[in-house]
Order: sequence, then structure tokens, then C-alpha cells
Amino acid sequence: MEYDSWVPEGVDITVPNASRVYDYALGGMHNFAVDRAFWHQVQALFPDAHLIARANRAYLGRAVRWLVEEQGVDQFLDIGSGIPTLGNVHEVAQRADPRARVVYVDVDPIAVEQSRSLLRDNPKAQVIHGDLRDPDAVVWNDEVISFLDFSRPIAVLMVAVLHFIPDEVAPRALISRIGTALMPGSFLVLSHVGPEVSEQGLQRQETARRLYEKTPTPLVIRDGREFRALIDDSFEVLEPGIVAADRWRPDPEQIADIPPQPNALVAVARRR
Ligand SMILES: C[S@@+](CC[C@H](N)C(=O)[O-])C[C@H]1O[C@@H](n2cnc3c(N)ncnc32)[C@H](O)[C@@H]1O
Repeated sequence: MEYDSWVPEGVDITVPNASRVYDYALGGMHNFAVDRAFWHQVQALFPDAHLIARANRAYLGRAVRWLVEEQGVDQFLDIGSGIPTLGNVHEVAQRADPRARVVYVDVDPIAVEQSRSLLRDNPKAQVIHGDLRDPDAVVWNDEVISFLDFSRPIAVLMVAVLHFIPDEVAPRALISRIGTALMPGSFLVLSHVGPEVSEQGLQRQETARRLYEKTPTPLVIRDGREFRALIDDSFEVLEPGIVAADRWRPDPEQIADIPPQPNALVAVARRR
């Protein structure tokens, strides 16, 4: 077994896991042979797949910075936060406003453990183990309610996680439920894998989707209309609407760095 000193008890390192696969795609170190082999299979289908991960991550950073600098948000609940990597939410937010508070939530024990270790000396950031499929247990978690002030706006991030929530679990209802805990003026920051545009691309994407069935979190691809339908009318989707990640308030330097990824869909919405 590799790196077993940092593996929390009970983690199965013989099955690929979305958080570790994504960590590897972004060049991280908290992944195993099974995750790397899995990602190589995805990359055999989509050689530029790592660029989708990078475009998503760049959007996450721009959205957090925009919320702090332009909207005065200083509280973040990041659900499906992943294994810490470059440009974590607390780093971006606290660079813009040192008072910003962040709670990370993930279902994967390795993501939680690595976040805990990174945040040890940061009194304004916390991590909990939680499952988006049980939103009440996340939002009303003792640590969450003692750390964030729900009488003021909060930005809830669900970035690159909704495509792991199948229709049977009613993702729109989950998001609505979270919304009921939020004050008007709160935000949702979302992203989702969308369909490939060409017929050949769609076939390869179906093969990739079948690969994800071998993980604990199978992938659900939704188009822009289906993604939009996850957001109820208590939220207003802000300009520029549902768009590819690179089109959301682009930063010219990032655009030069990462070519457009049309199926990395994103949206930011505000609670009415
Ligand atoms: C692709 S990573 C995204 C990480 C980060 N949000 C980003 O966009 O850079 C998806 C994360 O969602 C987590 N996840 C999947 N299903 C989840 C659920 N039901 N509740 C909480 N986290 C979940 C995975 O463990 C993984 O860490």
C-alpha cells in the first residue's frame, strides 16, 4: 500500500475515487495507482480532460474573488470542496478580505483529513465531513452554525459536485433546502459537466460516464437547460447566465492560459 501513513482508516484505495482522481488531474499528490490508472483511461478518451478541471478551478477562484471584492461576501460554505490544491477558497477569500470565514464540506475522508491538516493554523477556516445528499445535516451541523452567521449572506459553493448527484436523489430539492437556510443576498456558486458537442464526442463521453460507474460517485451529465432546472425561483441566476467556465467574468490572463472548455458549465445565482 502506498502512502498509508496519511490514509484515514476505512478508505478503500483499490477503488478509484472522484476526489483523488480530480487531485491527480490537477497535479496533486493525494491519489493512488488506481486513481491515476482511472484518469489515464479518461485521458485516452479526452486528451485535454485536465483542462476542464483547470478551467473549473480557475472559475472557482474568480467567482470567490468577485464575491468578496464586488459583493462584500465574507462567509463561504464549500460543499464538495475536494482535496486541497492550488487556489483554495480560504486562500482566495482571505487574500481579498482577511476576515473571510470558510467551512469546507466533503464526503471523502481523505479530502476532509487533508483539509484539516492544511487549516490547522487558520482560525477562520474549518472542515467537516458531510454529504450533500443530506443537506440538513450539513447546514445545521453544530460546527457550521457556530462558525457561520446565517443571519447574514453566505456564498454556498457546489462546484464540480452536482454532476455526482443523480436525479433519483432530487438535486433541485437539495439545493432548495439549502436555500431555505440562506438570507436574501446569499449566493450559489455552481459548476457542472455538460455534454460534448459532436456525435463522436458524445460517444466518448458515454464511455467515460461508464468508467465513473466504477467509482462511489457515478457521473451524471446535464446540459445547460437541465443544469438551470436545478436552481429554483428563489434564486436569480446572475449575468452572464449559464455559460462555459471561461466565459464567466473572464480574466484575460487565465484565458490565455487555458483554452475554452465548452462543457465545463457554470452559474452564479443570488437568493432573492
Ligand atoms: C471534482 S471534486 C471538486 C472539488 C472542488 N469543488 C473544485 O471544484 O475544485 C468533487 C468533490 O465532491 C465530493 N463529493 C462527491 N459527492 C459528494 C456528496 N454527496 N457530498 C459531498 N461531497 C461530495 C468528492 O468527494 C470530491 O471531493
